[in-house]
Amino acid sequence: MERRSVLKTTIALLGTTTLLSLGYPVLRFLSPTVRRQSGEKITIRKEEIPPGSARELVFEGTPILVINRRETGFIALSRICTHLGCLVGYDKYKGQLVCPCHAGVFDLDGQMIAGPGSAPLRQFFLTVSATHVTLG
Ligand code: FES
Repeated sequence: MERRSVLKTTIALLGTTTLLSLGYPVLRFLSPTVRRQSGEKITIRKEEIPPGSARELVFEGTPILVINRRETGFIALSRICTHLGCLVGYDKYKGQLVCPCHAGVFDLDGQMIAGPGSAPLRQFFLTVSATHVTLG
């Protein structure tokens, strides 16, 4: 009798586990996808990024560069290369963003000017005041 009880309990546990493991993916599939804005803001003093230089940050989970372009001012660009996702770096001597993986080159507006891809780098919204640059 006790053996039968253990067997029933084991079967009930296995059934419940199986039901949960099958039900969870179905519930995830049926539930709507919600994209949340993080509302994250980052404020940097302008003097921290002199003209011709850039600063690396992570904003909303994305590695970015805030660049102070000599002629056209501040811009915030994703560092994720649009070809295959390597991280681009800022070459202050050439005034370009360079991808180390396949020699992709982007101008300081984020447009690809050489390399295997064609899509521009993602640009992030920023505001510039007299003293600060604010992302978000
Ligand atoms: S990943 Fe950047 S050029 Fe290929």
